[in-house]
Amino acid sequence: MPIQFLEKGQSFLLTTRNTAYAFHLTPDARLVHTYYGAKLKFLEDYPLLPENRSLASFNAETFDMLAEFPATSRVMETESALQVRFSDGTRDLRLVYDSHTLSENEDELNILLRDEHYGLGVNLRYRLYPDCDILTRQVTLTNSGAEAITVEKIMSGSFPLPYERGEFRLTHLAGTWATETQVQRTTVTPGQKVLEGRLNYTGHAHNPFFALDLLSQEGYGATESSGEVWFGALQWSGNWKTVVEQAHTPFRVTRVSAGINDYDFSWQLEPGGTFETPWLTLGYSREGFGTASRNLHRYQLNYVLPRRFAAELRPVLYNSWEAVGFNVREEVQMQLAEKAAKMGAELFVIDDGWFGERHSDKAGLGDWEVNPQKFPNGLNPLIEKVNSLGMQFGIWVEPEMVNPDSDLYRAHPDWAYHFPNRSSTTKRNQLILNLSRQDVQEHLFGWLDRLLSEHNISYVKWDYNRTISEPGWPEAPLEQQREIWVRHVRALYNLVDRLRARHPDVMFEACSGGGGRADMGMLAHFDHTWTSDNTDPLDRLPIQQGYSLAYAPKTMFCWVTDMDLNKGNYSLRYRFHSSFMGSLGVGGNLNHWSEAELAEAAQLVTEYKRIRPIIQQGEQFRLTPLEKGDRELMAVQYLAAGQSEGVVLAFNRRQHFWRNPQRLLLQNLDPEALYTLSGDLLPSEPVRLSGQALMERGILPQLDGLLSSALIYFKKE
Ligand code: DGJ
Repeated sequence: MPIQFLEKGQSFLLTTRNTAYAFHLTPDARLVHTYYGAKLKFLEDYPLLPENRSLASFNAETFDMLAEFPATSRVMETESALQVRFSDGTRDLRLVYDSHTLSENEDELNILLRDEHYGLGVNLRYRLYPDCDILTRQVTLTNSGAEAITVEKIMSGSFPLPYERGEFRLTHLAGTWATETQVQRTTVTPGQKVLEGRLNYTGHAHNPFFALDLLSQEGYGATESSGEVWFGALQWSGNWKTVVEQAHTPFRVTRVSAGINDYDFSWQLEPGGTFETPWLTLGYSREGFGTASRNLHRYQLNYVLPRRFAAELRPVLYNSWEAVGFNVREEVQMQLAEKAAKMGAELFVIDDGWFGERHSDKAGLGDWEVNPQKFPNGLNPLIEKVNSLGMQFGIWVEPEMVNPDSDLYRAHPDWAYHFPNRSSTTKRNQLILNLSRQDVQEHLFGWLDRLLSEHNISYVKWDYNRTISEPGWPEAPLEQQREIWVRHVRALYNLVDRLRARHPDVMFEACSGGGGRADMGMLAHFDHTWTSDNTDPLDRLPIQQGYSLAYAPKTMFCWVTDMDLNKGNYSLRYRFHSSFMGSLGVGGNLNHWSEAELAEAAQLVTEYKRIRPIIQQGEQFRLTPLEKGDRELMAVQYLAAGQSEGVVLAFNRRQHFWRNPQRLLLQNLDPEALYTLSGDLLPSEPVRLSGQALMERGILPQLDGLLSSALIYFKKE
């Protein structure tokens, strides 16, 4: 039974295949968290309710420090997950247990808490995914009183890590535009570490993913395959906040809270109204970061991604953005399409520049009519050509934005976020449309629906290219104006869902100037994300490795372009191998590639298609540690279901005199089986080895010098 209420101990026990999560009901009807970790053998093995005390008159009680859902109440020493203002000015909550229900198949638990006095219900929802060792949490507020309640803060979840166990280390993903998802690590010390997005999108700077591992007494943390890791990710693409804090109490408690950011947030909960938070995904692994990532990947593929394409292979795409920029013209696009098709591309995408007076980023956003100079007979001749070449057609849009120099803005200046008596700050010469407005939502749905209805479009790349400023909605009642942070994201999700319902065979990609919207909220509505505008094949490696910590490789598009920031003179093979780490795309200017390069590219695309099911649907194992991008060797293994076949990709940054390359120890193979190897192995290496030998002795890839790469394929006999 995944969810149990143990009457005797008054405790809830939630178990997956390998993990357990527990909390207790106190005699005065509060919920106190008691356990998250490995599944234990007997019910008696789980901890009992601790003694409720406080260290001094300056401290909160133990029960409040370990609260399962710490709402602002009494002495609030820890990060609050819920803060409200009642109409009489009271800003203190007294939540008590009311009732609980279990879903029929016992994988969902709902616990209703109620304020002792006011008409506020707080429903804590827990869902279990036992096959992924994943637990998700969500909260719904209901106002059953007669007066409005102002919600000032509401998190999706919060939990204390096991105390009296030792020190923790935080691993998270940080970066900036073109350097997204870089792995960062820091020891947790007293105080708070806040990771957040507060600019109306997920952000390039931080990602709503966290992992905390337990340090050994010698100070060593978990590795890719060993050690305890607690991790999580928020399913939300707007302002978000993760707080990791350590507080001194009789014991040092480390707590993680995550949810919608309370920065500039407020929600008017009218009588009878409800408010639902996004889902928070949580997991625990006692086999290090590798298992943590694979559990998240499996959960995304099996449960999060929109079902239509979740199990399908991603097509090899060609996108001309880096080749021609805004200068998308029918003739050149047709030439590129011919070359892309010959190379093996299955999807041809035209990027920015096809509409309105969009010749640079200065004008045109908002005017979504095909530009007649660039496409004299509309898009259909190009689409027909692309289709006749055997490829699907895809198109770029940026619906949430408007250039002031556009007919749309001239007609509806109030549709963009703005404040009275303040000039609006443009970024990339554009403003953000106020998606909280119903008329804006209907306008966007209207033109997108028309675009998809009038053309044979199979793929939409949905971009979002600036951070917000002047987030005003002066037309709304004052008490609702700070709701835009939530309303915008909900409207975005709703828009995509409506379009998908009307056009079920269209794939959607989430993009925000590269990887600014890489999160599980987007992955619940879009099929994949554009990882970064940095397509230099060496720079990409840590970006892609960092991305894989939280998100499935299949959801990450990686393009081969002509970018060579490091003056690496990369070989075409190296460039392709770097892009083999997820879903393959090509973005170079094929009109400038030689015949020999095009022929080699076609071979590499064929090779990718052969191993694509393993990369996109198999499991990923990072064979070298998580890194910031300065290690010499990076290697990653992909393994098909049933351990039947796999691929290793290895990348060398540089070679040293008289130093052998490092042996790569493969993971999770069948030790008894014999595997045949082929590809870039050193000539002295055997090509037939047992799974045990591959895992214990490992293999030496053939890596020849600076910026070389190796691809090794293995198959069970
Ligand atoms: C930013 C995206 O990340 C790029 O791939 C490209 O689509 C440009 N926007 C177009 O303006």
